[in-house]
Amino acid sequence: MARSGASSAGRLVVVSNRVADLSAKCQSGGLAVAVAHALKGSRGLWFGWSGETSEDASTTPPKIETHGELSTAKLDLSPEQEEGYYYGYANRCVWPALHYRLDLARCSEVDAETYFSVNARFADALMPLLEPGDTIWVHDYHLIPLGEELRLRGCTARIGFFLHTPFPSPEVFAAVPHQKRLGRALMVYNLIGFQTEADRETFTRYVASCLDGERLRGDLLAAHGQTSKASVFPVGIAAEEFARLAETESAKGPLLPVQDEEMKTIIGVDRLDYTKGIPERLRAFEALLAAYPAHRRRVRLVQIGSPTRETLPIYQEVREEVERLVGRIHGRFGDLGWTPVTYLHRAIPQHQLARLYRESAVGLVTALRDGMNLVAKEYVAAQAARDPGILILSRFAGAAEELKEALLVNPHDTNEMATAVDRALNMRRPERWARHRQLMQRIETGNVGHWRDSFLAALGASTFGTAHYPGHNLGAA
Ligand code: F6P
Repeated sequence: MARSGASSAGRLVVVSNRVADLSAKCQSGGLAVAVAHALKGSRGLWFGWSGETSEDASTTPPKIETHGELSTAKLDLSPEQEEGYYYGYANRCVWPALHYRLDLARCSEVDAETYFSVNARFADALMPLLEPGDTIWVHDYHLIPLGEELRLRGCTARIGFFLHTPFPSPEVFAAVPHQKRLGRALMVYNLIGFQTEADRETFTRYVASCLDGERLRGDLLAAHGQTSKASVFPVGIAAEEFARLAETESAKGPLLPVQDEEMKTIIGVDRLDYTKGIPERLRAFEALLAAYPAHRRRVRLVQIGSPTRETLPIYQEVREEVERLVGRIHGRFGDLGWTPVTYLHRAIPQHQLARLYRESAVGLVTALRDGMNLVAKEYVAAQAARDPGILILSRFAGAAEELKEALLVNPHDTNEMATAVDRALNMRRPERWARHRQLMQRIETGNVGHWRDSFLAALGASTFGTAHYPGHNLGAA
């Protein structure tokens, strides 16, 4: 993979809430998968939360591990910090707002203060690990204030930020308590990266309407004396590598039991998050079986639902609803020889996923809102060029801005989705070939290397705002 952007002498320092276990076979969530690929073979540091809590976390330094030229540094959180920062402000308040679910946003003052103080603690712990010439790349909504905290401690490195989620319309983001503190902290970064043009546009409108800022020229924005660049870098996958993995894995034969050569598989793979539209997908599958009896005993839905944020009640509710719907479909349509839905409540390793995608005639991605959705890209990359399956993709996933040859659907419209599944199951090869060729081209061109290199090139070219941060945000509401 060609490397560019980060100064040739300096390291790339990635900071994200989760730091992937680089030796693990399953990574949950698009961020860990993308960053792990982007950092492969780099001289760099990946800094973040260990995923663990300990009572003496605040006084314990980060645990450092070395994997070739790449080191990871992981900090524990105290139970109170995990609750207020991760479960509280980040995932009970900001996450729902970013996904247009203000009805689910619960924001307490304690959570917000814990979030900002954990970001300050991350900055304290990161500063001594930095070296001259480093380029810092901060990821996602957990760590919005980190760049500002680093500047306040005298860091003069280039610092970029990438938002993996959608950025909602300004009217929605304006309802988040402390949104101005977040918005101004974003403006401290040299570069703010978004997944889609739509996200960049809503952020630009937000800067104008809520931060009294303005668009200077092109992607340059100014607010409160800070100038930053907001650009679009759709996150990609290691397309060729994933395609090769699927090819090798498929040679081992089918992973799913073959009771009937004619049986077609529809695959869904998600964290069990309310943003992913899994109940909506199950209802669409049920509607398909009801409206098109010819598919009964001829199709099965395989749903992989990996556990996520399970202590939050809304995530327990999603799991219960999914399990109730799976049971209902079995009771209504299943028989002694056919189980319509195979549902696993766990993550599965990449090589098995690649094989599952490959043997599935339809990839069903029905997110109600999603920053990008890398499952959509992985599904396409895993297909056999001679007999490719069809991707059905929600219009509200960031991937829909790029993957125009998928069957695009409104996940709120059960019948539209059922019709799309029927169409995909019946689609003839020439149409599937044409769609797959074009999708594959897009996925290869916009792969994870391109995402990394274009972000770092833009960050490397930024010449403003690297020093003398006046610190106007401290204590600002
Ligand atoms: O992609 C969005 C995201 O929040 C990532 O930041 C995160 O790694 C992933 O979803 C998984 O969520 P969590 O880290 O809360 O398990």
